[in-house]
Amino acid sequence: MKEQLEAIRQKALNELENAASIQDIEAVRIKFLGKKGELTGILKQMGKLSAEERPVVGQLANVIRSEIEAKIEEDSKSIAQKLQAEKLKAEKIDVTLPGKAKVLGSRHPLTVVLDDIKDIFIGMGFDIVDGPEVEKDYYNFEALNIPKDHPARDTQDTFYINENIVLRTQTSPVQVRVMEKQQPPIRIISPGRVFRSDAVDATHSPLFHQIEGLVVDKGVSFADLKGTLEIFIKQLYGEDSVVRFRPHHFPFTEPSAEVDVQCFNCHGAGCPLCKGEGWIEILGCGMVHPKVLETCNIDPEVYSGFAFGLGLERIAMRRYNINDLRLFFENDVRFLKQFD
Ligand code: FA5
Ligand code: MG
Repeated sequence: MKEQLEAIRQKALNELENAASIQDIEAVRIKFLGKKGELTGILKQMGKLSAEERPVVGQLANVIRSEIEAKIEEDSKSIAQKLQAEKLKAEKIDVTLPGKAKVLGSRHPLTVVLDDIKDIFIGMGFDIVDGPEVEKDYYNFEALNIPKDHPARDTQDTFYINENIVLRTQTSPVQVRVMEKQQPPIRIISPGRVFRSDAVDATHSPLFHQIEGLVVDKGVSFADLKGTLEIFIKQLYGEDSVVRFRPHHFPFTEPSAEVDVQCFNCHGAGCPLCKGEGWIEILGCGMVHPKVLETCNIDPEVYSGFAFGLGLERIAMRRYNINDLRLFFENDVRFLKQFD
């Protein structure tokens, strides 16, 4: 049995010597030390030995096992080291190669201007609220004093989901939604997308953005409306900006006005952009109509309020002297990267 053990030792060490990979080494381990391995096989036959022989053979078997295990460990280590060295060599980084620059995006100009506008109104104590773009006819028209046969509907034609649901044509329905839920004092702005079947030109798009404003409290007057909008316009455009209030009509405000900025393209002389007017309209406003307050269960004898609706694209055009609103929607990176 001793000779058998010696032979196993020799064979195992030889095979380990020739092993070139971790897999080869594992195969040798299984072949000699595994459950059905050659050395294990010998140990299983120990029972046949005499009482004197057993410890001697047992000790020799242990020594050989340790020797093979030590060799396995040593070879595994050196192979692992070799593999690691090869891997490092293959992965060597050439730090002199030029890097790949990440292209950073920027905020859309409409977002930049919207963020500025929000800041100005937050500074005056306004809250920001949201409203749905797919809106009930009731909120978009009816509750704003625009019944089904009212001519104001013609100027704000839109996509009808069904008879009672439309793509909103203005952010004014948010006024009603807010007043239904909350008694005065109210001071909110509500920015968002609106939709109209308007023909596209340099100042019109069928999808555009408005920012609604609403203030309702005791003793709110037209002077408050004018003062608030003047402060807003001066903060946004600078102290010397030229604007005008022009009487107008909206069914849900009384009295009503529109605000124009002097055309930045021709400085008031008249040009194709302002259609010869010298002015570009940026917002509509007025004192909330008593009927609208009543519809929302706010007593018009106690409370009064003003509201306004800003056209975000027009405001951004004036801010950056952009002479065509279509540029905002064309997603040309050469245009967009000039902002923020
Ligand atoms: C309204 O939509 C009213 N809801 C505004 C209002 C609110 C009045 C609260 C009173 C009280 P108007 O239809 O004029 O009003 O639109 C408001 C602004 O949206 C315009 O001044 C203009 O700046 C912008 N606007 C209107 N139509 C377009 C369009 N097709 N493309 C781009 N901007 C537009
Ligand atoms: Mg208008």
